[in-house]
Amino acid sequence: MRSQLFVPGDSEKKMNKGLESGADCLFIDLEDSVAAANKETARRLACEFLASARNREKRPLLYVRVNALDTGLTDRDLDMVVPGRPDGILLPKSQGGVDVQHLAAKLAVREAENDIADGITKICCVATETASAIFGLSSYRGASRRLTALTWGAEDLSADLGAETNRLEDGTHAPVYVLARNLTLLAAVSAGVQPIDTVYPNFRDEAGFRRECMEARRDGFTGKMAIHPAQVPIINEVFTPPAAEIERARRIVKAFADNPTAGVIGLDGEMLDKPHLERARKLLARLGSTG
Ligand code: COA
Ligand code: MG
Repeated sequence: MRSQLFVPGDSEKKMNKGLESGADCLFIDLEDSVAAANKETARRLACEFLASARNREKRPLLYVRVNALDTGLTDRDLDMVVPGRPDGILLPKSQGGVDVQHLAAKLAVREAENDIADGITKICCVATETASAIFGLSSYRGASRRLTALTWGAEDLSADLGAETNRLEDGTHAPVYVLARNLTLLAAVSAGVQPIDTVYPNFRDEAGFRRECMEARRDGFTGKMAIHPAQVPIINEVFTPPAAEIERARRIVKAFADNPTAGVIGLDGEMLDKPHLERARKLLARLGSTG
């Protein structure tokens, strides 16, 4: 999934607009964008929305961002939304693999109670929202088959650090957030799950947003979260591999398939060996194509 659009769970209007946005996934929020007084309303609206939206023929994946495990709100969130059969849960303030397993256990119980197949509900974690979470990044590997993606956040991390800002004057992230970003990328790849880049809050700054998307793709992120529908088409465009790249990946896979005993081959005047083949295969796998 290239684009994940946050929609506040207490806004029927934004949830419905999200469906038309072209996003590959909606992150229906019960956490930071919903005031404490509205949590219960948001849970009910989110469940009703899930139940109606999931039957649409062509729809985005539907994940719910629950409240963090240490808030005491997660169980009620799950009790209310799992009956709506979300495709996944986005876990904020995750501290590592142990939190994934904790959430997986909670999901297994609710799946059983609601006659939902065991393990269907996936998990994506926001993995850098506190200083201690950074030190849990290596523990996602092997934590659960439910884990599909890791993403990172600079807003809550800067609050935890007591920092003045998380972005420099030119709009780029300050060094400690770049570290969190890069470690998330490495942790996700090491865990065999999708690395997703963080949000860009300044939703009127299209040029800055596009630049950040391109930097993320350059480094290996395969998607980015959006907070506004206007960001979705840019994400989808940047994270869709260009036709020429797909074609070249197919040719690389074919060249190795045609020369099964060759460790290294030349194509268009360039040396290609195993890492090039791996990269080509990864790109095609993302398209759901075997080449
Ligand atoms: N999802 C769906 N629709 C959205 C949307 C979103 N995330 N953000 C804005 N829209 C809708 C608005 O409701 C508005 O609809 P309308 O034209 O029918 O009135 C339209 O898109 C244009 O919105 P705009 O006026 O540009 O922005 P806004 O001031 O209404 O909203 C935010 C700005 C930041 C409050 C809004 O984008 C938002 O709620 N984003 C998600 C916040 C969130 O979930 N944060 C948690 C993760 S960090
Ligand atoms: Mg937050």
